[in-house]
Amino acid sequence: MKPYLLSIDQGTTSSRAIIFDQQGNLIHSASQEFTQHYPQNGWVEHDPDDILQSVLNTIKQTLNESGITVAQISAIGICNQRETTLIWNKKTGKTIYNAIVWQDRRTAQYCHELSEQGHGELINAKTGLLIDAYFSATKIRWILDNVEGARHAAEQGELAFGTVDTFLLWHLTEGQSHFTDATNASRTLLYNIHTHSWDAELLALFDIPRSMLPEVKNSADDFGTCHLFGAPLCIGGIASDQQAALIGQGCFTEGMAKSTYGTGCFLMVNTGKLALTSHNKLLTTIAYQIDGEASYAIEGSIFIAGAAVQWMRDNLHLFRCATDTEDLLAKTNLNHGVYFVPALTGLGAPYWDPDARGAISGLTRASGINEIVSAGIQSVGYQTKDLLAAIEQDGISIHTMRIDGGMAANNWFMQFLADILAINIERPVTVETSALGAAYLAGLHKGLFDSTAHIQQLWQAEQQRQPQLDREVVSALYQGWQDAVRKVLVCQ
Ligand code: G3P
Repeated sequence: MKPYLLSIDQGTTSSRAIIFDQQGNLIHSASQEFTQHYPQNGWVEHDPDDILQSVLNTIKQTLNESGITVAQISAIGICNQRETTLIWNKKTGKTIYNAIVWQDRRTAQYCHELSEQGHGELINAKTGLLIDAYFSATKIRWILDNVEGARHAAEQGELAFGTVDTFLLWHLTEGQSHFTDATNASRTLLYNIHTHSWDAELLALFDIPRSMLPEVKNSADDFGTCHLFGAPLCIGGIASDQQAALIGQGCFTEGMAKSTYGTGCFLMVNTGKLALTSHNKLLTTIAYQIDGEASYAIEGSIFIAGAAVQWMRDNLHLFRCATDTEDLLAKTNLNHGVYFVPALTGLGAPYWDPDARGAISGLTRASGINEIVSAGIQSVGYQTKDLLAAIEQDGISIHTMRIDGGMAANNWFMQFLADILAINIERPVTVETSALGAAYLAGLHKGLFDSTAHIQQLWQAEQQRQPQLDREVVSALYQGWQDAVRKVLVCQ
C-alpha cells in the first residue's frame, strides 16, 4: 500500500518537502531557508549547491520526522521557482555559474535593445511573454557570453540548461533525466506555446544551441526514478510553482482565478484551451499539460509582495514578526494618505518598468510606523487591483479569487483585498497549494486521481470574505495609489 505523495517545493527563499495523503491533507513538512546572493546592484543569484542540498535535507527530515517510509510513497511531485536559470556540464553535473534568479535585472539593457529592434511582437506571439530580464533566455545568453569557455562548450553539446525543476531532476535521477514540463518551458522565452516545441527562430535570436535544452513533457508524466532514499521512487509530476498553485487551488475550470502572495504575487486565471492574447501587458502561459493537452492561463506578475513586508521588517525594523502587523493594521485608519510603491526591483505587470525604484510618499507629521506598515501592506492590494483592472480590460471578469502564500494568512489583508478588488476572496484549508498541486500531478500520473475533476472536488474553503467598504472610499484610495505609481515610473 502506497498511500502518500511526496512534494518538493523549491522556492526563491526556501526549499520544502511535504508529504500529503490522497485526500490532499498535509501530513508532514520540513523547510530550509538558504542564502540570497546580490553580487551587484540588481543582480540576484543562488548557489546551486544550496538549492540541491536544501532539497535533499528537507526530504530526509520530513521522512525521518513523519516516520513514513519510502515504500509508502507512491510518487514524487516537484514544483519550483520559475525562470531561474542554471547551466551545467552534462558529464560532471557541475554548474558553470551560480543560478541566475528570476528577479535578476542584469540583462535589462539587452532586453531594452531587443525591444528597440522591434522583436517584441514576434516574441509575444510565439511565447505569450514580453521581452523582460525576468525570463530565462537572456540569462542563458548572459552565462554563455560571460563565463570563459561556456559558448564553445555549449556549441560542442557539452552543456545542459535547466530551470530549477530540471536541475533537481537531473540530480535526483543521477544524470538520467534531462526533462522539464510544459509549464516551466513556457517561462523561458524560447518555447512556442502554440506549436509546443522549442522555437528555432527564437533560439537563433538569442544565440542558444538547441542541444542544451531539456525534453519537454506533460506536467503529469514519467520523469524518471530516484534511488537516493533507499527504495526507488517515481517522479511523476512537475510544474512551476505558480501553475502548481493553480492546480492545488483546484482552478481547473475556465474563469477560475488564484493569487499567490509569496516573495512576489502571481495572479492567474484559467482560460482553458484558449491562449488568450493580452492587450494590457499580461502574460499568456501554459497552466498545465495533461495527456498531451495544454490548458492556458493569463497571468499578472508582481515582483514585490511579501518581500515588501520582509523589507519593512529587516531593513526598516518596523516590527519583529510579520504576524505582529495584523494588530497594528487593525488600529490604523485606511485613509492616512501614505503610499508605499515597493518598486524595489523595478515594477512588473502591468507597468514592466525595470528602472522604477521604490518610494514612500504622502508623509506628514502625523505619519508613523503604523501608517508606513499599512501603506506597505496596502500596496500589495493596490498592485493586485492593477492586475485585475488589466485582466478586466482584456475581457475577463472575475467574481471570486482564491488566495494562498504567506501574506494570505493575514486576515486584515484578506478583507482589504475583498474591499479594494470588490470581489469575493477565498482561502483554502491547505495553504501549501504549490506543493499540493505538484503532489496532485504525481498522483494523476500514478492513477491515484482519475481526473482533474476528482482533484477539484477535494478543495475546501477555510475562510471567505466579501467586500464591505464603500465604493467611493475604495475609488479615492486607489486614485491615490495611481498618483503615487506615476511618480516612480521611468518608462512612461
Ligand atoms: O516567477 C517567479 C515565481 O515562480 C517565484 O515564486 O514562490 O519562489 O516567490 P516564489
